[in-house]
Amino acid sequence: MKFTRCLKSMVAVTSVLALPLTSIAAPAPILIKFSHVVAQHTPKGQAADYFKKIAEERTKGRVKIEVYPNSQLYKDKEEMEALQLGAVQMLAPSLAKFAPLGVKEFEVFDLPFIFDNYQELHRVTQGPVGAKLLAKLEAKGIHGLAYWDNGFKVMSNNTPLKSVADFKGQKLRIQSSKVLDSQMRSVGANPQVMAFSEVYQALQTGVVNGTENPPSNLYTQKMHEVQKYVTLSDHGYLGYAVIVNKKFWAGLPADIRTILEGAMKDATVFANDVAKKDNDEALAAVKKSGKSQFITLTAAERAQWKKAMDKAHKENMSRIGADLVQEVYKATGYTAH
Ligand code: LMR
Repeated sequence: MKFTRCLKSMVAVTSVLALPLTSIAAPAPILIKFSHVVAQHTPKGQAADYFKKIAEERTKGRVKIEVYPNSQLYKDKEEMEALQLGAVQMLAPSLAKFAPLGVKEFEVFDLPFIFDNYQELHRVTQGPVGAKLLAKLEAKGIHGLAYWDNGFKVMSNNTPLKSVADFKGQKLRIQSSKVLDSQMRSVGANPQVMAFSEVYQALQTGVVNGTENPPSNLYTQKMHEVQKYVTLSDHGYLGYAVIVNKKFWAGLPADIRTILEGAMKDATVFANDVAKKDNDEALAAVKKSGKSQFITLTAAERAQWKKAMDKAHKENMSRIGADLVQEVYKATGYTAH
């Protein structure tokens, strides 16, 4: 009897004690929506997923990252607007897509033949020029966190593109970059700006005849299934800047921001490690599919492309900024001929 009474009062005390505990709910995690336009199995897609994994682990539930691949949430133009409005917090747009924000300098990365390999590129992205460019985003309400590699572009089309003359009159899809517009016009093609999510259908229906992209994008969007020829030209580079809404980033608790910066550093190493491998594998898969025929350029043909496309450098020198272009030339050793 005595024992039951004692037990009853213990239960009563515990439930009173338990009350405040249950009413103190854990704070809701900070949500980061990370939107991008490519497939999950691409350098950017994998790096975004890796960042999510390590950032969530290291912040122990205080941060939740939702990755939306394949233009699921926003297409190219819309995602930039969404970031500035705060509808998403993180993006990794291609460097060719920053001029509409008013930061034309990023188009330096689109100049044809400016980088011969990843080492030359990294001298820019991982050096003072790269940092200077990211800093320019601050005035646009954007904070730049890192550069992530993709790779060197192939040119695909439904007729073979081997000599410069082959480009004449071909309708080729480009990203929203004036440098890429000049590049295509310099060889006599007719460039058409189009969102990435619309390219496959445009190729399939003949709205455009061809396009350019690193093999990882070509393969994961199945563009090779609607392109008869792929020229292994490596004529230009495509990569990304990982960016966040500046106000959101500044408003994070300092310890969280430090952890996320560390996770971004590691995700960048991961991204740059998988980029070349992914593109090599994608190229092998396109070849194996037998859907499109590969074209390799002779040294003379490649030199002819380079000579013609040098016009894109001259035409955009003042748009990008002559000093900046010269700085990049110095880092990469670009010479016109
Ligand atoms: C494109 O539009 O072709 C690319 O920028 C897509 C991407 O994000 O790699």
